Amino acid sequence: MSLLTQRIQWLRDRGSDQWATWERWRTKLGPSLAAGDIWILWDDDEAIGTITVEMTGDSDFWTPAELAEPAAYVSKLAVRLDRAGEELGALLLAWAGDYAFRYGCRYVRLDAWKTNKELHNYYLARGWTYLRTSTDPRRRSGVLFQRPAAPMDQEPVELRTITTHRE
Ligand SMILES: CC(C)(COP(=O)(O)OP(=O)(O)OC[C@H]1O[C@@H](n2cnc3c(N)ncnc32)[C@H](O)[C@@H]1OP(=O)(O)O)[C@@H](O)C(=O)NCCC(=O)NCCS
Repeated sequence: MSLLTQRIQWLRDRGSDQWATWERWRTKLGPSLAAGDIWILWDDDEAIGTITVEMTGDSDFWTPAELAEPAAYVSKLAVRLDRAGEELGALLLAWAGDYAFRYGCRYVRLDAWKTNKELHNYYLARGWTYLRTSTDPRRRSGVLFQRPAAPMDQEPVELRTITTHRE
């Protein structure tokens, strides 16, 4: 939670409205925790990053044909501010791609906040393919990206989920 709230404050300080819906989706973190979908990157005993990986996509964004494909959906990616700039976000995304690959997924997908062009550029610069932008007026996220699920091409890193569900 502190990794996410620290980054929300960082976004506000930059004048960004990204994750303005935080109060709504924070209530869904409990079920994600219980499912073992929330992962933490540790440096010794310090939590320095987090990513959520789910095997079911949001039907507001993804078509029935896409949802039928084996894919992993990542969200709530955050790196502790004092560790920014080390490409730990890329590491977490690569790890999620490797995890998805091992679960038989063909793709890793995500939806990004619509107004945040810098965030879209972040994904484009790291090999993600832009698919389309959701026109659903109820949703403020929905810039859709995907890339193939693939094994990591570097020494494996170990992430721990907060529960023991998938261990
Ligand atoms: C995305 C993130 C995990 C990447 O961590 P990292 O590997 O340490 O990389 P950095 O934090 O150095 O980010 C790389 C660049 O992208 C920019 N960036 C990252 N997320 C951004 C965002 N949400 N809005 C605007 N710019 C963003 C950073 O400012 C940085 O720009 P710079 O190179 O000009 O300094 C981290 O920046 C973060 O926690 N961002 C906020 C939360 C977020 O947007 N998560 C993704 C939600 S889909």
